[in-house]
Amino acid sequence: MYTGLKHFHSFFAYLVLLLIAAAVINAILAKAGKRPFAGLGRKLALLGLIAAHVQLLFGLVLYFVSPAGFSNFSGATMGNSTARLYMLEHPLTMIIAIALVTIGWSKAKKAAEDGKKYGTVALWYGIALVLMLARIPWAVWPVAG
Ligand code: HEM
Ligand code: HEM
Repeated sequence: MYTGLKHFHSFFAYLVLLLIAAAVINAILAKAGKRPFAGLGRKLALLGLIAAHVQLLFGLVLYFVSPAGFSNFSGATMGNSTARLYMLEHPLTMIIAIALVTIGWSKAKKAAEDGKKYGTVALWYGIALVLMLARIPWAVWPVAG
């Protein structure tokens, strides 16, 4: 179960990053082009949200089955930057990033005009993307997949 979950999480990370990045770029272009919040533009933002939520759900399970996750949490491993990344910094930062995506989607849905909707997606998903990129374990991904 651990190996399967880890591979799923590793593969799904591509999808999450691609969809969130696509949603941000599209939102900026759509706002500039005064496009309506519908069709592909709205779908990219929704698919980004769903991919992030799926990654959250499986990431949480992975955290409790991985030897690098919760079971490795201790004061001693806190001093090791690689161990700290997996047991604390990666999960915590990703949870915050996914919360920002969720807030962004929710605010975009409620915004009155299409330009504001796209601006909201660009801002919240954009900050989330920066956070995600900051705490990906780049030493093992995508190369060691
Ligand atoms: C740990 C697991 C999860 C948590 C804590 C979570 C949390 C949330 C929250 C708080 C919202 C509300 C956003 C709003 O205000 O509109 C939401 C919406 C949503 N989530 Fe999740 N979610 C989880 C897993 C999933 C999974 C596994 C999927 C899909 C397979 C999913 C798909 C969605 C969709 C489609 C929406 C609503 C989008 C809309 O407003 O139309 N979530 N989720
Ligand atoms: C945007 C969301 C996320 C992305 C893009 C992401 C991406 C990644 C990547 C690329 C890896 C390295 C996989 C490999 O070794 O090939 C990884 C590992 C890991 N992630 Fe995430 N992750 C996300 C969210 C989460 C969340 C929410 C949790 C837990 C709450 C989590 C827990 C873990 C754990 C425990 C590992 C280490 C697994 C191991 O090597 O045993 N991730 N993640």
